[in-house]
Amino acid sequence: MESSSVRTAQRNLARSKKTTETAVDLEDRNILVKDADIWNGKGFTRGCILILEGRIKRIARSITDSGVETIDALGLKALPGLIDVHVHLRDIGLAYKEDFATGTAAAAAGGFTTVLDMPNTVPPTDSASRLIEKRRVAAQKTYVNVGFHAAAVSDSHDIESLADAGAFSLKLYMPKPIAPFDVENDQAIEKMMRTAGRVGTPVTVHAEDLVTGENTSKTDSFEAAAEARPPIFETRAVDRLLRIQKKARCHVHYCHLTLRSSLTKITGSTRSTSEVTPHHLLLSKKILSSLRWRAWMVPPLRSEETRWSLLKSTLTGLCSVIASDHAPHAVIEKDQSVSKSPPGIPGLETTLPLMLTLVNRQQMSLSLLVKLLCDNPARIFGLKSKAKLRRGADGDVVLVDLKKKSMIDSSKFFSKAKYSPFDGFRTQGAVHSTIVGGGVVYREGEIVAGEGSGSVLRSGSC
Ligand code: NCD
Ligand code: ZN
Repeated sequence: MESSSVRTAQRNLARSKKTTETAVDLEDRNILVKDADIWNGKGFTRGCILILEGRIKRIARSITDSGVETIDALGLKALPGLIDVHVHLRDIGLAYKEDFATGTAAAAAGGFTTVLDMPNTVPPTDSASRLIEKRRVAAQKTYVNVGFHAAAVSDSHDIESLADAGAFSLKLYMPKPIAPFDVENDQAIEKMMRTAGRVGTPVTVHAEDLVTGENTSKTDSFEAAAEARPPIFETRAVDRLLRIQKKARCHVHYCHLTLRSSLTKITGSTRSTSEVTPHHLLLSKKILSSLRWRAWMVPPLRSEETRWSLLKSTLTGLCSVIASDHAPHAVIEKDQSVSKSPPGIPGLETTLPLMLTLVNRQQMSLSLLVKLLCDNPARIFGLKSKAKLRRGADGDVVLVDLKKKSMIDSSKFFSKAKYSPFDGFRTQGAVHSTIVGGGVVYREGEIVAGEGSGSVLRSGSC
């Protein structure tokens, strides 16, 4: 019988020959996961998952003689593959920071089988042709399923063509629009939201209302830079957008919120969803004096009290989604004075171990983790065949060793951004293997699939 390493090598070779977005070798999409504790929506049931041609064919206590590659998952938990709706993969023009291969290898190592890429790239994702070009490049390189957000644009026809091209949302970046957009003008936002609502595309927002004159560029320390973007900027933006959104009747997803009050308002508003990041849940601005650029992102870290109340409200179910806001930069760019240091930290490889640590400490339930990292992201962004471990669903599975203890070490990241404010954090709960569409992509510290083995997703067709 053929050894599994030979099979893996053959599979890698077959995958590396893939040239088009749709050229997926279905024979590589068969696997039997044996004797895992399988997430059933409430708890775990011991059993086997048979994935054929990329889809879950059968889940049963015992499946034998399937004739396909088998993973012995005894002692491991099988969860639906995680979905990160907020990542910056940086390709095409900023590939020195990250590219589709390294960013999605990081995703697989972090247990994410689907990621949605943000449009603030070079060139920006602000037209259907640019979106299609990104899809073409990503198809050659991605290890996981990847979809694309587009920039919020003002022209209604452009919005329609971005929706037709499969954009998962229109991102309104309030501090500095990605494509020309009059963010000061409520009517312009309302018009864009109305069109988005009509074509059924959500609007995602970076809700920080920076007013001219409150700029941060003159500050000389990272703490001062954080102080210069205070919570009131978020409050002002959220209040304003909720008011506009009510008239426009469109779905708005509020990215990386930092305040309990924002979550409360959004929970009470129809067609609104909220997102928080692990760093705003677990870190506060007091670490900025020692970690400096390593902990510099926007929105910035808040006070310990604000962080604690964000964590408490998230743990009691006040939030829709956890996303990493994986925002990699080159260390050489980051390690500069605050006025030159770009905000953003990598998060794909730290999110799940950090959240599993909360589960092990009994602060977070596994059902909340699955809701925030699988169910709600899939529901909000229309990924209908994802985040389910049942017959007919996509074969995206993460196998987790819930008890394994490790320490976060950014020098081992697959991401090009080898820094993290979580370096040295002790975690409990680790990714063992990540299966994307029936193919093993990551196993015990290694990427075992070929570049381009993942799929490119279009909104509305998955
Ligand atoms: C993001 C980036 O680097 O693209 N940075 C960040 O700190 N979150 C952009 C952004 O969301 O501001
Ligand atoms: Zn942002």
